[in-house]
Amino acid sequence: MVNAKHSIHKFPHYTPYVLTQSPQFQNLQIFDHPLIHHKLSLARNQITPPDQFRRLLNEIAGLMVYEVSRNFTTASYTVQTPLEPALGKRLSQPVTLVPILRAGLGMTDGILRLFPEARVGHIGIQRDENTKLPVHYYSHFPQDVSAGPVIIVDPMLATGGSAVHAADHLCKLGCAKIQMICLVAAPVGVEKMLSSHPNITIYTASLDRELDQNAYIRPGLGDAGDRVFGTPA
Ligand code: PRP
Ligand code: URA
Repeated sequence: MVNAKHSIHKFPHYTPYVLTQSPQFQNLQIFDHPLIHHKLSLARNQITPPDQFRRLLNEIAGLMVYEVSRNFTTASYTVQTPLEPALGKRLSQPVTLVPILRAGLGMTDGILRLFPEARVGHIGIQRDENTKLPVHYYSHFPQDVSAGPVIIVDPMLATGGSAVHAADHLCKLGCAKIQMICLVAAPVGVEKMLSSHPNITIYTASLDRELDQNAYIRPGLGDAGDRVFGTPA
């Protein structure tokens, strides 16, 4: 009989999970993986130029979606190999990525590279510079966006205003299976998102310390949209 405790002791360096459930927030999953730490640190560096910043964001997003898609449902089918029929599995529901413009676009290609069948629905939201409140300026989704899981994609979860607005909008469209991927989250933004949408799981590469007086995440990585698109204010 396999003794689980004993077999773990035989592999003391084996870490079974790349995700840690936040002790502070239910439904916040924090990535704890050497490659993600390495790439996020390079992205935080102020001297990292837009081309490398974009590459890093896309690479991190690709690594993240591998775990985020773990709960997607599959249907079995028969696939004919060159030798005989075999049991195959395919995703049984259409998946939609919803990048929040602009900065969310900086992570979308990395996810599509791993997951080319995903559809992309766009939502344009910009924070008002003075009030910090979200201003919705654009949206375009697949007609059947509610037919399957939706992943909101945005590197920054700061006050949470933009993410909550995006989630509200998707709920109005009937979406029931919503998750969010971000790179860096502030505690206040997580709190706002999870109190407005307790059924949404947020996946982040880092829960940072706080927001500053300009509602920027500290230590953060600066203005993600500007860094993705090379448009410093
Ligand atoms: C950034 C970021 C998020 C939002 C987060 O977008 O990409 O969408 O701020 O802040 P919040 O949690 O306080 O709402 P921004 O409004 O700067 O627009 P941009 O991507 O077009 O630059
Ligand atoms: N938006 C960003 O791009 N960065 C922050 O730190 C906060 C909001």
